[in-house]
Amino acid sequence: MKSPITVAVTGAAGQIGYSLLFRIASGSMFGPDQPVALRLIEIEPGMAALGGVVMEIDDCAFPLVHSITPTSDINEGFKGVNWALLVGSVPRKAGMERKDLLNINGKIFTGQGQAIAKNAASDVRVLVVGNPCNTNCLIAMNNAKDVPADRWFAMTRLDENRAKSQLAAKAGVHVSEVSNVAIWGNHSATQYPDFYNAKIGGKAATDVIKDEAWLQGEFISTVQQRGAAIIKARGSSSAASAANAVVDTVRSLTTPTPAGDWTSVAVCSDGSYGVEKDIITSFPIRSNGSKWEIVQGVPVNEFSQGKINATIQELKEERDAVKELGLI
Ligand code: NAD
Ligand code: LMR
Repeated sequence: MKSPITVAVTGAAGQIGYSLLFRIASGSMFGPDQPVALRLIEIEPGMAALGGVVMEIDDCAFPLVHSITPTSDINEGFKGVNWALLVGSVPRKAGMERKDLLNINGKIFTGQGQAIAKNAASDVRVLVVGNPCNTNCLIAMNNAKDVPADRWFAMTRLDENRAKSQLAAKAGVHVSEVSNVAIWGNHSATQYPDFYNAKIGGKAATDVIKDEAWLQGEFISTVQQRGAAIIKARGSSSAASAANAVVDTVRSLTTPTPAGDWTSVAVCSDGSYGVEKDIITSFPIRSNGSKWEIVQGVPVNEFSQGKINATIQELKEERDAVKELGLI
């Protein structure tokens, strides 16, 4: 039997937590022979509900669950963790943009960054889901200077999955035919789902979907606005699909990327593609199972460059706003 991976999940009693924990516990995230030690973090008012979630995990009798530690003490919660999944924070309501949450949620990530630096395992990796996730990740990273920059991630995989689903539907093919979809920039309404480099059945998506006006218009705006469409329809923000994207993100970072393909996750910019350094922004990424890299040489045409510039500009403004708030 392998030794357990220790995983912290914040906001464990929330909507996403309720889908995510059972996927982690069943082996979907780390594989069918990998035990997990769960450290479940909530704020005090969420602890009673978290107690109920723990009862349900117990009642699944999952063979891979090594231990469960529910806590509202973040030092205790991040103790020895190999993966920290930062979900806990307030979701937006209809009519809000994700960055409207910066004032409310930003300060959560200063304390969590510090607690991760102090308590986590030396190989800790951190995925921020709570919105606005790119800039919350920037805040946590800047408050955990001892944790190297290549360990910090913010989630844009849900956007990639949404983009693949839209392209597949338009082309009339199964979603598994769609590959090489990169999300550039912010997990926000400025993100750029790059269809120019996407492939459908191994061919350029633009050769399969011969409707560039749709690709440049409705496709992009549907992906950018999908979160808002779900809030409108459900009355609350995406949860099961978000949890699924968390599983996909961690799996993609911990298993080799299929040859020729890439996935999307926001990482600390090293200046690739001329993007401002040290902001957390989504790129096409490859992994060999333990190390990841930004895929270089992906063609960026004038249309794409304009879209990338706009989303990077928004991230710079978010960074400046949290600097002003004293969070970084
Ligand atoms: P939710 O309100 O159902 O649950 C959030 C939970 O976090 C609550 O139980 C709350 O008590 C807890 N919480 C709040 N502050 C906390 C703190 N400081 N420490 C620990 N726990 C805390 O919300 P949800 O639907 O689960 O969404 C969580 C976040 O994820 C939101 O910010 C949402 O916008 C974001 N989200 C991101 C993506 C993405 O693609 N990046 C997708 C969906 C949702
Ligand atoms: C999403 O993309 O569904 C989440 O970020 C929630 C939101 O506020 O849109």
